[in-house]
Amino acid sequence: MDVVPGEKPNPTQPIPTLPVPFTRQSFTEKDLNTFAADGDSLAGLIRKARTGSAYIPIGFDMTIFYPGTDGGAQWGGAAADKAGILYVPAKEIPVYTSLIKKPSTEENKAGTSRLYQLNCAACHGVDRNGNHDGSYPSLVNIHKRLNPKQVHQLLLKGRGMMPSFSHIPENERAAIVDFIFDKKPEKEIASTQKSDVPYQHTGYNRWYDRNGYPISMPPWGTLTAIDLNSGQRKWQVPLGEYKELTDKGIKPTGTDNYGGPLVTESGLLFIAASKDEYIRAFDKETGKILWSAKLPFAGYASPSTYSVNGKQYIAIACGGGKLNTKSGDQYIAFALP
Ligand code: HEC
Repeated sequence: MDVVPGEKPNPTQPIPTLPVPFTRQSFTEKDLNTFAADGDSLAGLIRKARTGSAYIPIGFDMTIFYPGTDGGAQWGGAAADKAGILYVPAKEIPVYTSLIKKPSTEENKAGTSRLYQLNCAACHGVDRNGNHDGSYPSLVNIHKRLNPKQVHQLLLKGRGMMPSFSHIPENERAAIVDFIFDKKPEKEIASTQKSDVPYQHTGYNRWYDRNGYPISMPPWGTLTAIDLNSGQRKWQVPLGEYKELTDKGIKPTGTDNYGGPLVTESGLLFIAASKDEYIRAFDKETGKILWSAKLPFAGYASPSTYSVNGKQYIAIACGGGKLNTKSGDQYIAFALP
């Protein structure tokens, strides 16, 4: 496969045979969701894109990552029990990107913009528009939500999937903040970060159709039990659903998800994570849903359990916010009967 000048991809990547993959490994035209809106034009784009395996080097043309860039397995991680069964939530949503030439310092006199491109553009986009599902928020009109001081704090501490930038010099952080608030810096500062990387990518763009559904065949979010003793899959079920699709008779598709599971001694597997704002308990032997409850905001976190005076509780942080779900800040605890 041809690559960009200066890049030398390895001819292959290590591909383990076991454990059996818990997501599909390639996305091509035939994997297009049969009910995707504008299917024909999507198929045309896929035909022209670089796709077909999980390890395709990015090029100047649209390159598709599948099962995705932040999952497959996502930040919530997995749970395991003593029998050696691993329970792993995952997502399978095509993500596209491509490489573009990075403006050099000369081409781009505003050094601060260059600092932005270097540090922030990969997630928040070259034009600061974020990505369209809101997992990387837009920074356009940031002044309507935050003041510069709050952004300074955010850059120092990070938040959720937003990394901390405490490692870059303070004057560079200040210049970036000026830039995103559209303030002209008092003087140009030269970056101390010597990066001669000639390219940047156009963001992690999850690929949805016009109706907001992933363009791939469901499931889009899954929960899988893998027997680590044999490497074989024990069961796999969708994680989450779009109620309006289920109501139409489509079997639960799973949704994009963030957050891990909790497995109990008594054989229950608790997980929220899904975009539909539910927390569920699955039978760890079969993957059957035994209980579910609607949360006030999506629980993009891992549940924990504790007991007080002999009564056991399950608690989950409900922050929502990502994936175009509403934001909140509540902890919800459920008591086991
Ligand atoms: C690895 C991806 C990534 C990088 C790189 C990154 N961010 Fe973020 N950023 C995020 C995510 C994800 C959020 C949402 C965090 C949350 O609330 O969970 C975020 C949130 C923000 C917010 C708050 C937006 C709002 O509406 O509340 C600001 C401001 C911000 N980032 C600025 C920056 C700046 C400036 C840089 C570069 C110095 C940067 N980010 C680099 C991923 C990133």
